[in-house]
Amino acid sequence: MTGETAHGLRGDYSRMRPDYTVDQDWAGYTEAQHDIWRRLYQRQGLLVPRYACDEFNETLEVLHFGDGIPRFDAINRMLAPKTNWQLVAVPGLLPDLTFFEHLANRRFPVTVWIRDPEEFDYIVEPDIFHDFFGHVPMLFNPVFADYMQAYGRGGIKAHELGAIEMLSRLYWYTVEFGLIETSKGLRAYGAGILSSGGEIGYSVESPRPNRIRFDLLRIMQTLYKIDTFQETYFVIRDFKELFDATAPDFTPYYAKLKGRAPHAASTVLADDHML
Ligand code: PHE
Ligand code: CO
Repeated sequence: MTGETAHGLRGDYSRMRPDYTVDQDWAGYTEAQHDIWRRLYQRQGLLVPRYACDEFNETLEVLHFGDGIPRFDAINRMLAPKTNWQLVAVPGLLPDLTFFEHLANRRFPVTVWIRDPEEFDYIVEPDIFHDFFGHVPMLFNPVFADYMQAYGRGGIKAHELGAIEMLSRLYWYTVEFGLIETSKGLRAYGAGILSSGGEIGYSVESPRPNRIRFDLLRIMQTLYKIDTFQETYFVIRDFKELFDATAPDFTPYYAKLKGRAPHAASTVLADDHML
């Protein structure tokens, strides 16, 4: 991957190290960019008390990173003693294996660039606001943090087995668009929801999408939409359920699913447990 035109991605990949990491260059952000951050943060900050899970909200309050684009090194000093994860700065999306290797080593890649004002509501690729606001608070939760590392290890294996597509669906429907049942009702824990001004309310309250009880193999054979709100969300009971369900070796699961046609994102099956 060399240069914008060669790979079609937005970030500047010209100065990265072999593992795709870069320096954050915090001093290089403009005041206008900090201002976009503050505006995005303010909007989401008003929504998450109603729609995000407690684990997310409790961490967000302590972290206090709404005043401007956060410095990764400052967050890393707080994250290390909690779950031993570290943030690493990257230009943008990474090759699958590079991404998995970072996760397997408890390093979470965070994109350094921030969206332009015209893209306030919608971006095609994840930026620092999505990566940071959506993902970082959850990395402070010990069970979820372990799940992320296990996912990275599983990714390296899936890469060898040619099963990345199936495994990616699990990431999509949990880490990005997962819902959780709580004593206060349905809440979001997926970063794609938590960082979205529109989808956060839709995912929890709209009568339109399907909400189906978490089912690992069902998820791994379900397609997803990347350019609209989700048609289906999968709901976990708690993070331990997620961790335990994904602990077994997936090799036989991949073998079983390989020959099957995937389900459309909107499909509801007879044995789905709808919520
Ligand atoms: N247990 C999975 C495997 O053997 C790894 C994994 C863990 C995948 C957690 C996803 C999430 O492939
Ligand atoms: Co994400």
